[in-house]
Amino acid sequence: MLISTDELAGITDIGTLGFVPTMGALHAGHASLIKVSVRQCDVTVVSVFVNPAQFGEGEDLDRYPRTLEADISIAKEAGADYVYAPTIEEVYPHYPALSLAGEELEPGLLARNWEGKLRPGHFEGVVAVVKRLFDLVQPDYAYFGEKDFQQLRVLEDMVARLQLPVEIRPCFTMRDADGIALSSRNRYLSAEEREQARSIPTALMAMRDAFKEGETGTNKLLNLAQDVLDESIQLDYLAIVDELTLEPIERLTEGCDRQARAIFAGRVASTRLIDNLPFNS
Ligand code: PAJ
Repeated sequence: MLISTDELAGITDIGTLGFVPTMGALHAGHASLIKVSVRQCDVTVVSVFVNPAQFGEGEDLDRYPRTLEADISIAKEAGADYVYAPTIEEVYPHYPALSLAGEELEPGLLARNWEGKLRPGHFEGVVAVVKRLFDLVQPDYAYFGEKDFQQLRVLEDMVARLQLPVEIRPCFTMRDADGIALSSRNRYLSAEEREQARSIPTALMAMRDAFKEGETGTNKLLNLAQDVLDESIQLDYLAIVDELTLEPIERLTEGCDRQARAIFAGRVASTRLIDNLPFNS
């Protein structure tokens, strides 16, 4: 089940290769990506690598859950063929420098706002590690969740700009029964905080539903969501954006000619959560 860097070279000519990059602490959201890959590809590789380069100072790198044994079981259960858990030196040959020689990767314009603005260096770390993992694994298809919508768009943009020989396949967000998007960070929430976090998907759905009932003013929709959000939540951003440009939309058109999506980031006590919802869902 575990595959080494050397062994990876031997599986690239077996058929179509699907790749699901993760930082481990796998849950049903990750499993859903793996299942889509297994359905669509001959061989599926899941990587587990907690990438220090994408964590900022004061973020949760040290307490990020590391659960490789459980991850292997979940990946296997979902039908994956291999789990690739490289060492930090394999991913970053110049470690402790988290740099890749000859690779000056720009995360691009889509990384400027939202997470990119609040987490300086985050998308630089994401594009560096994903490009490096693509080079190591050489997949035909790579699966990413809409849960991290800006990440998905930044990576689609990277693949297009660098003309990489891999196709990115987006996958829907998986939610718990109470609506909260599955996330490795949900385990930090107390019962009371979880109750507060429930207001996040409720607020996003309230905006979408009001839009579907004819409200096209984004300020009105955002005010509506603010009213629904639990007041203990410290908001980083709440916006309605164009899915292609990630720029805020001021007025929606009925029938929605541009694809619009509500995006949220904020803190429930000390846990930072992100979520988003397309208006056409
Ligand atoms: P991680 O947070 O482990 O997520 C791995 C993949 O699972 C991402 O594509 C993410 O969008 C997806 N995912 C997470 N929660 C999901 C949910 N509830 N429903 C559907 N998909 C979900 O994202 C990363 O790791 C890293 O930044 C990575 C791309 C691996 C680079 O280090």
